[in-house]
Amino acid sequence: MKIGVFDSGIGGLSTLHQIMHTLPDEEYVFYADVDHVPYGEKTKEEVLQYVDEAVQFMVSRKCKAIVLACNTATSVAITPMRQKYKLPIIGIEPAVKPAVMHHGNKRIMVIATPITAREAKLANLIHRFDEEGNVDVVPMPGLVRLAQDCDFVSEHVMEYLNAAFAGYDLTQYSELVLGCTHYNYFKDTFSMIFPKDIEIVDGNQGVANNLKNILKTCGIINLSTPEHQDSVEYYYSGHLVSDQKELEKIHKLHERLERMLQI
Ligand code: DGL
Repeated sequence: MKIGVFDSGIGGLSTLHQIMHTLPDEEYVFYADVDHVPYGEKTKEEVLQYVDEAVQFMVSRKCKAIVLACNTATSVAITPMRQKYKLPIIGIEPAVKPAVMHHGNKRIMVIATPITAREAKLANLIHRFDEEGNVDVVPMPGLVRLAQDCDFVSEHVMEYLNAAFAGYDLTQYSELVLGCTHYNYFKDTFSMIFPKDIEIVDGNQGVANNLKNILKTCGIINLSTPEHQDSVEYYYSGHLVSDQKELEKIHKLHERLERMLQI
């Protein structure tokens, strides 16, 4: 049986990429809801409905566990999805805890989609770990769209980021928490804008470790190499991606993500 990895778009590939490093012997269904991306600019009710449809689809593809590789989907839908479906459902949330542990005497910036930034889930997380009030949350409407256009390093991106960070003194920050899986593609660009020693933190390794532990505990971890060479089936809003050009694009995105892992 396969593991379902879900996002509104290409951001979830960053989570899948990390999971495949941690669990290379598993097979995967990757579902990107490209018909409805970006989720972060929709209502909670809409996102809940889209996530439900995607989870239902992955259950019908006989997935044994599902990863919501989307902070926005996790923040509004993880509890109802766990109540509705029987299989393990693993979510992702901004890696505030490790950032608070490492920040020294500098500040921590969490960047996220508008929904994630305003939902109670993030406020509760920050309240739990940030006793001294060192965390600033900055919503980034529009950045997911740039990622979907594969515009990661350009003048346009620089202009967008400079405007988004205009009210902040970036030299005050030692930690940048990526609160959206799409933002992993911009790590090299963030490095150009923030101070040299900025630590860029994301939740993907945490999710991969969590998933591995859950599979082990449930006795459903796969320890033998998959029979098929292609260990991932890619779907766009329920449609199998078979177009060679599109698969090539996904391959290139994985290559970029591998480079981003070194930053
Ligand atoms: N990758 C999703 C996340 O982590 C992006 C949400 C969106 O589509 O706006 O939040």
